Amino acid sequence: MPHDVYPAPGGPLTLRRAGAADALPAAAVWLRAFTAALPTVRRAHDDDGVRAWFTHVVVPSRETWVAVGEDGAVAGLLVLDGDELDQLYVDPDRQGRGLGGRLLALAKERRPAGLDLWTFQVNAGARRFYERHGFRAVEETDGSRNEEREPDVRYAWRPAV
Ligand SMILES: CC(C)(COP(=O)(O)OP(=O)(O)OC[C@H]1O[C@@H](n2cnc3c(N)ncnc32)[C@H](O)[C@@H]1OP(=O)(O)O)[C@@H](O)C(=O)NCCC(=O)NCCS
Repeated sequence: MPHDVYPAPGGPLTLRRAGAADALPAAAVWLRAFTAALPTVRRAHDDDGVRAWFTHVVVPSRETWVAVGEDGAVAGLLVLDGDELDQLYVDPDRQGRGLGGRLLALAKERRPAGLDLWTFQVNAGARRFYERHGFRAVEETDGSRNEEREPDVRYAWRPAV
C-alpha cells in the first residue's frame, strides 16, 4: 500500500515498502548513485554482489522503502535497520529536487525516537545534506572497521524535546 504520493518535479512519485520485484531496480539505483557520488571509494562488493545483497538480504530482512515513478521505475530508496538509517540513495537523474529530503522525513517519521547513520567522510554532499536536516557528527573513524577501509563519520539525529 502506498505510504505517500506527491507531485515531484518530473512526475508524481509514490513512496511504498519494497517487494521482491524491487530488489534489482533498487540495486541499480544504489550502484548508479554510489558510483556518481563516491568515485574515489573502493567498493567492497562488485555489481553482482550488490544485486545479490539487495535480493537476499536488504529487501527480505530490512525495512526497505522505494520511491517509484508513474512508469514503475525506482527513483530512490531508503533502508532502515533497527535505529540505523542504513541506506539512502537517490538516482543521480532525480537528485537535488527534494526526494532525498522526502525519504529522510519518512525515516524520521518511522523512527521518531532518533536515528544514527554512517557516511564516508569524503561524501561532502551527503554530509551537508544530513547536517541541514538536523544530524550532528558524533564520531569519526579512520575506516579500519568498515569493509571499504574508507574514513567514515557517524551522524545522529534526536528529536527536539
Ligand atoms: C544524499 C542524497 C540522498 C540526497 O538526495 P536528494 O534527492 O539530492 O536530496 P534533496 O533534493 O532533498 O536535497 C539536496 C539538495 O537539493 C536542494 N533541494 C531540495 N529540495 C529541492 C527542490 N524541491 N527543488 C530543487 N532543489 C531542492 C537542497 O538545497 C539540497 O541541498 P543540500 O545538498 O545542500 O542539502 C543524494 O544526493 C544521493 O543519493 N547521494 C548519493 C548517495 C549517497 O551519498 N547517499 C548517502 C550515503 S550515506
